[in-house]
Amino acid sequence: MKNRKLKPESLMMSYGYKPELSEGAIKCPIFQTSTFVFKNAEEGKSFFELAYGLREKEAEEEVGLIYSRINNPDLEILENRLTLWDEAEECAVFESGMAAISTVLMEFLSPGDLLLYSNPTYGGTAHFIQHVLTRYGIHVLGFDANDSREAIEDRIIDSGHANNLTLIYVETPANPTNALIDIQMCRELGEQFGTVNKDVIVAVDNTYMGPLWQHPLKHGADLVIYSATKYIGGHSDVIAGAVLGNFDLMGKVKVMRTFLGNQTSPNTGWLLMRSLETLKLRMDKQEENATKVAAFLSEHPLVEKLYHLGHIEKETRQAEIFEKQCEGTGAMVSFNIRGGEKEAFQFLNNLGLIKLAVSLGGTESLAEHPASMTHVGIDPAEKVKYEITDRLIRLSIGVENADDLIADIEQALHPILVPVSFV
Ligand SMILES: Cc1ncc(COP(=O)(O)O)c(C=O)c1O
Repeated sequence: MKNRKLKPESLMMSYGYKPELSEGAIKCPIFQTSTFVFKNAEEGKSFFELAYGLREKEAEEEVGLIYSRINNPDLEILENRLTLWDEAEECAVFESGMAAISTVLMEFLSPGDLLLYSNPTYGGTAHFIQHVLTRYGIHVLGFDANDSREAIEDRIIDSGHANNLTLIYVETPANPTNALIDIQMCRELGEQFGTVNKDVIVAVDNTYMGPLWQHPLKHGADLVIYSATKYIGGHSDVIAGAVLGNFDLMGKVKVMRTFLGNQTSPNTGWLLMRSLETLKLRMDKQEENATKVAAFLSEHPLVEKLYHLGHIEKETRQAEIFEKQCEGTGAMVSFNIRGGEKEAFQFLNNLGLIKLAVSLGGTESLAEHPASMTHVGIDPAEKVKYEITDRLIRLSIGVENADDLIADIEQALHPILVPVSFV
């Protein structure tokens, strides 16, 4: 197949694995080992020189296996396979999405630097930015999907730290409303505020789109970050994270990972490789189901507003960004139920097939109430600004039969009376 560029889904069973190194096993074994035996002392010395960046890698030279906090075959093969989806040069896997995010932020930010970040973000990310980074003298500045480029530029200048802008961190689509941020605009802001001595890095949390429905590196991002707990793991049974980018930046991320010691375990690495074999199948089905669920909700009298990428109002800035950077409508569907928390809770408690739990991207459909659960920590005024109201319900759609999912939603909505004020 030398003349054909195979699609990532065709390579997830084999890429980067050599059966002859593992007794011919068709599947990569779990290399449950903390350390690796060197052939001789010279080899050990040479591996360490590379790992510590004391010399350049020679052509065709592979980084030798040393110790599982630095590298391990399960992690390396998994990382190689993950690079295929985003066409990235390099990948690093972590023990959680938060480990991936915090490692990137800590590697590239120093006291005095300015971090520009989009709102809303996953609650853990917002906490890390606002309450941890600020303790280390890092200046942080938020913006959101409603802000124009000019408004963001003015805010950067007014902050008094424009010369220190170092990193732009974006979560798009934003959890839980699917609000979109323009990645290319962030790249342009990075160019505008970068200096000859310092490039501004653009990092995108692509968790909501998995590696299938959006490829931020193509739109100017330097780093793509995933909570691999979601679509990559896909079965709600592992916690993991991943970062992808070019050799230079990822070399730095990997060194930081070595010293924070937050790499994923061989066992989790193996589970993620197993998950990757069905990534496309699962995500295609999830997207198809979500499209049907969203169509049903859009017609239901108890649904006041729908947040789904297939239902963005035409000829708006959001529609323009969707056309430019998204390759699918995803499997996250949020909606406002008519009424308030009482009606939202009634709906959640009435569900049968769809489970009441946080997290997303797994094979089973999940429902939750962002205002009192995943986004409870957000300042009340910001919640109003980002439409995270008591009426909002978030659904992560799985691989079940779409008609069964719709029947479950229908029966859960059925006993709820439309509040008088809406009749
Ligand atoms: C968009 C997003 N990014 C990051 C994270 C954090 O990932 P993890 O829970 O794997 O640490 C989450 C978790 O829900 C998330 O939704």
